[in-house]
Amino acid sequence: MAHVNAAVPGAREFYPLNEPAIGTHLAGEQPELFKPIEIKGVTFKNRIFVSPMCQYSSSNGHATDWHFVHIGGFATRGAGSICMEATSVVPEGRISPEDAGLWQDSQMAPLQRIVEFCHSQGTKIGIQLCHAGRKATTYAPWIKAKTGHGTSWVAQADENGWPDNVYAPSAIPWSEKYPNPKMMTEQDMQYVEDAFVLAVKRCKKIGFDFIEFHAAHGYLMHEFVSPLSNTRTDQYGGSSLENRLRFPTRVLERIRQEWTDKPLFVRISATDWAEGPEKSEDGTWLQWGIEQSILWVEKMLSLGIVDLVDCSSGGNWFKQKIGPVIDGKIVPGYQVPFAEAMKKAHPSLIVGAVGTIDDPMVAESYLKDGKADVVSLARGFLRDPHWVLRAAKTLGCTVKAANQYERAWH
Ligand SMILES: Cc1cc2nc3c(=O)[nH]c(=O)nc-3n(C[C@H](O)[C@H](O)[C@H](O)COP(=O)(O)O)c2cc1C
Repeated sequence: MAHVNAAVPGAREFYPLNEPAIGTHLAGEQPELFKPIEIKGVTFKNRIFVSPMCQYSSSNGHATDWHFVHIGGFATRGAGSICMEATSVVPEGRISPEDAGLWQDSQMAPLQRIVEFCHSQGTKIGIQLCHAGRKATTYAPWIKAKTGHGTSWVAQADENGWPDNVYAPSAIPWSEKYPNPKMMTEQDMQYVEDAFVLAVKRCKKIGFDFIEFHAAHGYLMHEFVSPLSNTRTDQYGGSSLENRLRFPTRVLERIRQEWTDKPLFVRISATDWAEGPEKSEDGTWLQWGIEQSILWVEKMLSLGIVDLVDCSSGGNWFKQKIGPVIDGKIVPGYQVPFAEAMKKAHPSLIVGAVGTIDDPMVAESYLKDGKADVVSLARGFLRDPHWVLRAAKTLGCTVKAANQYERAWH
């Protein structure tokens, strides 16, 4: 019998074939984190997902080799899923001038190269489609840090920004450091909705395994659903929850019409973290919170427009007070109670937990206790791209390492 270093079939270059795929459980008791999960016909080999992370490194919205290496590194190290960063469907919907985009065909090729590489390593990959709304045209974090406190964070026209072309549900800036948005007209909404659909068509051609709809962190869709950022008096806003949900739900419906047979994830912020309750005693909604989040997801489920809800929080209220805090630090897993509440309300829904998840034992306990179905990590993966392999070691099982890296794990 010939012993050949077999290639990944159909890949554009020679890559040794990993069998089974990197990050697949091999031996020892199988922790929940390493049980595959099927979502709308797509099987994820484990439940450790890479959370979307802006890199502020795109060239006019085009992914570069930075993204190839950054994302590729997670694919060669066993993540169950990778979600590419917030990717804007129109140029002025970018958070910073160097953010990712999918508003033109030329942006497809570098993404396709990344997707094909991830697939060659047996890793599922999706993309987070986004519009930053009133939080657009701001500096990358390390540039923001240089400006010092008390100054504007708005990237001006001579800094590749577009401060005069920022719009939102209502003309309310996020803070004095942010741009002054114009109130969106029906025409603006239609234009954004159509841009989402065009981006989805491109995702199909590229071959992404799933799409995540960004409805969190104070960006456009979150701005629509929250009464703090949406004070419109027409059918798209104000105190009526139904009105505030109308536009984001309509966009999701259009996405689903186009993205019929693959998973559609939605990332929500489950609270604005503003002071006071979500609802007043007379039943008026005062801020966005878990109660409305559950109702919105109920609507999504009834329309068949969501396959996984990722429960994040905050980002829409400048004076947000995130908690609980112990010794000046936000407690690990502070957003998990939102995932748990969502799961309790909709037991058959696949729910993701995210936020300060780093200890594999604790992550495992969230799944074991039924608080969530998958966990997403961002900074944990930046600190340690080998998080999946390390988690397996901590949990006392063996998972497949890349052939090329196996000697590090025996
Ligand atoms: C560098 C960086 C970039 C981020 N970019 C995005 C993004 O594009 N979209 C998003 O929804 N969240 C973004 N986030 C938030 C993360 O996805 C995640 O929800 C948050 O960091 C909490 O998870 P963690 O404690 O594991 O980092 C970003 C976080 C970091 C650290």
